[in-house]
This record gives sequence, C-alpha cells and structure tokens, in this order.
Amino acid sequence: MASPFLLLAVLALAFAQALAYDPTPLQDFCVADLKSNIFINGFPCKNPKTVTVEDFSFSGLNITGNTKNKFGFNVTFVDVMRLPGLNTLGVSIGRADYAPYRILPLHTHPRAAEIFTVIEGTLLVGFVTSNPNNTLFLKSLDAGDVFAVPVGMIHFEFNVGKGPAVAIAGFNSQNPGIIFIRDAVFRSKPPIPVEVLEKSFQVGKDVIEELLAQFK
Ligand SMILES: *[C@@H]1O[C@H](CO)[C@@H](O)[C@H](O)[C@H]1NC(C)=O
Ligand SMILES: *[C@@H]1O[C@H](CO)[C@@H](O)[C@H](O)[C@H]1NC(C)=O
Ligand SMILES: *[C@@H]1O[C@H](CO)[C@@H](O)[C@H](O)[C@H]1NC(C)=O
Repeated sequence: MASPFLLLAVLALAFAQALAYDPTPLQDFCVADLKSNIFINGFPCKNPKTVTVEDFSFSGLNITGNTKNKFGFNVTFVDVMRLPGLNTLGVSIGRADYAPYRILPLHTHPRAAEIFTVIEGTLLVGFVTSNPNNTLFLKSLDAGDVFAVPVGMIHFEFNVGKGPAVAIAGFNSQNPGIIFIRDAVFRSKPPIPVEVLEKSFQVGKDVIEELLAQFK
C-alpha cells in the first residue's frame, strides 16, 4: 500500500497539473460578467437568461492593425475581455500585423501555448527553451505555414519580407496575457533598482542606463 506521504505527493502533482491550464466549464457556458465586482479566478457568469449570440461573437480581425509605432507591430487579442463568451472555455484568438522588416519583440504568454499561421508575408520565428538548455528553435514561415510555441516560452516573430505580414494565433487560455521582456525588465513601475539589473546582466551602470533610456 502506498504511504500517505506518497499519496499526498501524487495528489499535489495532479492538482498542480490541473492548475497549469484554464479550468474546464461545469455547464454549457459561463459568459463573463465583466462588470461584476466579485473577484474570482476568471469572471463570474452573467445570468444565462440574458445571454445572446453577441456574447459569443466579435468582429474586426479583418482589420489591419496600425503598425506605426516604435517596433512596427500591432497585436489584437480576442480574449475574454473582448469576447465574454470565452469565459471558462480555455481558448482565445488573436491577429498580429508586422510592418516590413520590423519585429514583435521577445515576449511570453504566461498562461497559454500558442499556435499560429501566417496569412501574408514571411516571418522568422523562434522560441527558447528553459534552463539549463536554452535551446533556440528557429524557423522561417511563409503564408499557410503553422508554428506552435509551448506555454511560457520566450519567443519572437520577425517580418523578414519586403511587405507587411499578418498572422492569426490561437491560444489555450481565455486570457493568455503577454509579457514583453523589455517592458518587464526595463519599464517596470517603479523601476527595478539599477544595481539589480547590473548584477543580473553582469554589466556596468552605463550599459544599464543606456538600455533604460531606450524605453523612457
Ligand atoms: C471587416 O468586417 C466588417 C464586418 O464584420 C465590415 O463591416 C468591415 O467593412 C470589414 N473591414 C475591412 C477593412 O475589410
Ligand atoms: C493597433 O491598431 C489599432 C487599430 O488600427 C489601433 O487602434 C491601435 O492604436 C494600434 N496599437 C498600437 C500599439 O499601435
Ligand atoms: C537539457 O540539458 C540537460 C542538462 O545538460 C540534459 O540532460 C537534457 O537532455 C537536455 N534536454 C534537452 C531536451 O535537450
């Protein structure tokens, strides 16, 4: 017979795995009540009697995102905040636009694996595995090519073509989230102490200050 300790360890592991992805629905749907002031993991359900087809639809992924910004990309997430019917479904979708030779810089989705397809253009994409290997998986994708990014991995998409590029992405979370590495490291509010950045990257204060100035 398994020891109670072992049983507890197995149970803890099973619970941890269940928490790694969005929880599954306990009814047909639980359309998010985005205005509720009850704070739970996800959103409370709005009264099913008031649910309409509009709660399950969104229009606008046919619209080209404006890429006239510093990096030259634009991401439109259709997550639970934009499509309340996604609450508890564990999926979402998004569109990314890339200006020629510009990049969607290093980022991660803390709560979702991603699968995306290129609709237009050519993207050089890559993700890096966790420590200790830090292996880069790099590939060039043309229209119709599909790429998967494991949950939490740091990745990028670089439009290496001469024209604009467009991709449509699916996520296994109603709220995948996005962490841009540069924003988290160099644009936190309040800022991470310079000494912490110096010691983290093993460089001098001048290098850190130059980097910080890029993101002011
Ligand atoms: C996008 O689709 C909507 C219908 O949902 C339409 O009204 C709009 O004109 C389309 N926009 C573009 C840029 O194609
Ligand atoms: C993304 O595109 C939309 C639609 O054109 C625009 O409203 C928004 O400001 C753009 N975002 C950025 C960061 O440029
Ligand atoms: C990652 O690195 C470890 C330690 O060097 C090694 O044992 C392991 O096989 C590597 N895993 C992969 C997927 O390359």
